[in-house]
Parts: sequence; C-alpha cells; structure tokens
Amino acid sequence: MTAPSSSMPQFREDFAKAKHIVVLTGAGVSAESGVPTFRGAGGYWRKWQAQQLATPEAFEDNPSLVWEFYHYRREVMGTKDPNKAHIAIAECEKRLKSQGRRVVVITQNIDELHKRAGSENILELHGSLFKTRCTKCEEVIENRLSPICPALADKGAPDPEAKDAKIPVDQLPRCKKAGCGGLLRPHVVWFGEGLDPAVLDSAENELDQCDLCLVVGTSSVVYPAAMFAPSVAARGVPVAEFNPEKTGVTNSLGYHFHGPAGSFLPEALARHPSEPE
Ligand code: OAD
Ligand code: ZN
Repeated sequence: MTAPSSSMPQFREDFAKAKHIVVLTGAGVSAESGVPTFRGAGGYWRKWQAQQLATPEAFEDNPSLVWEFYHYRREVMGTKDPNKAHIAIAECEKRLKSQGRRVVVITQNIDELHKRAGSENILELHGSLFKTRCTKCEEVIENRLSPICPALADKGAPDPEAKDAKIPVDQLPRCKKAGCGGLLRPHVVWFGEGLDPAVLDSAENELDQCDLCLVVGTSSVVYPAAMFAPSVAARGVPVAEFNPEKTGVTNSLGYHFHGPAGSFLPEALARHPSEPE
C-alpha cells in the first residue's frame, strides 16, 4: 500500500467535489481547548485513569466516587471553549448546507464542544456529560445543573491527595420523575458497555453514504469507531487523518496531516474558490 498523501492542494480538490462529508472525531479535537485526552499525559484523576472509573463495575462499587469524577469533568467544561478545529467544522457545515451539501460530525467525545461551536448534525457515539440516565426508569434527560446536586458542591478535586467524599447514595443525583426517585448515572457509554443501537445505525448510514471522511484526533483503538475510517477508505472514498501522531489506521487512509487539528482544519475546510460567494 502507498503511504498516505500529505498534500493539502490535493485534499482541497477532493473537498471541492464532496457532497456528503463525515467528520469523525476523538479526544484530540478538544486537546487544544485544554481538555485532556485519554491516552497519553494528563489522563489521571486522583490516582485513577478514566478507564478505571468509567465502568459499570466502578459505579456499582462506589457511585459516590464515580459521580465525583463526572461532576469534576462537567464543572471543568465550564472553563473550556471550542477551539479553531471545532469552529472550522461548524462553519463548514453551515456554509455547505446552503449549497445543498451535508457535513455530519460523528464524535466519541462527551464534552459537547462541537455543539457549542455551532455544529448541528452531531452523532454522539459515547453520550454526553450533560445528560443523565435513570438507573430505574431509564429516562434520559439533559442536565446542566452546577453542581448537579448539593452534596457534590466543591467535591471532585482531581489531585491525588483529595479525600473521597463518600456521599450517601440517597444524596447523589436522583430521578425527579414522579414516583421514581431512582439513582441517576451519567448518560455516557462506559467500558464494557455497548453503543446505543440507534446512534450506531445512524453513524453507519452516514459512513456508507459519505464521499469524503475526515478522522480527527482519535487514536483509533476503541471499537467500533476504530474501524469506521478504514472501512470508508476500503470503499475507495478519500479519508484524511488529522493527528500529530501516526495511528494503527494511518496506512490504510488516503491522507495524513501530521499536526494539531487547529493548525490544519481551518485551511482544509475553508471556502474553496469553486464555491459560491
Ligand atoms: P485518545 O486519547 O485515545 O486519543 C487521542 C488522539 O488525539 C491521539 O491519537 C493523539 O495523537 C491525538 N491528538 C492529540 N492532540 C491532538 C491535536 N491537537 N489535534 C489532533 N489530534 C490530537 O482518545 P480517543 O481516540 O477519543 O471511550 O479515545 C476513544 C475512546 O476511548 C474515548 O471516547 C473513550 C476512551 O476510553 C469511552 O469512554 C467509552
Ligand atoms: Zn427514573
């Protein structure tokens, strides 16, 4: 297989022709907003990595600890903003929409920065920090309260010396639906859990139909998202990876742009001279 191209002019020709663009994103697209990625430096909260707390078993064992972790992550997002990469994607969607062309974001991120940047077509494969799901009645709702419940106020400090808050389960976030009162959990996909079949179905549809795909800031190691870009490329569709590292899928793709997403995406997705003014 030939090495992926890093020619921006060549990518821009494919971009000018595309009518249906999928932008697949991972934690790296938010790195320049100051949100830590999972793999690599900065992935710790207290003495744990996300992979240890983002599991159904951890929540079963210690819902207080897992809620402290998610409370912290929700609160942190209040201090972060979408970066140039999120904004370039959102502006491109808006502009191409007026030309009858489609841009859709399929993200593994739960931080909602694509939404805040103005993207409208978004599939959140792993859920959202700002949604809850009731463990009893299963209801999913948006929740942007800060703090999410009084007992979590000032809790969730990330430093390794911080004391666990050990909040009694009846003081953790509870379902407000009449007669329910069940324990709420973050509406995010945890390790060992499957994706929402409806969301996965929509993502597969978009991937089957797209004629250009960008894969931005993901290590492409977590399935099923890891196989999305290679399977689109296998159909003969141009796929461009934007990542300061090579990944396990790089060599199966048409393009690799080596560097931070914020440095490449504004140029990659800017108005092409062939587009109407
Ligand atoms: P990872 O932390 O595995 O990978 C982040 C990727 O972003 C790496 O390949 C980095 O090289 C790249 N990167 C870093 N800075 C970047 C920048 N400025 N611009 C572009 N790329 C940059 O994150 P994900 O691939 O998103 O799942 O991880 C996938 C899933 O594994 C997550 O959704 C989460 C995690 O465990 C669940 O929680 C279920
Ligand atoms: Zn409920």
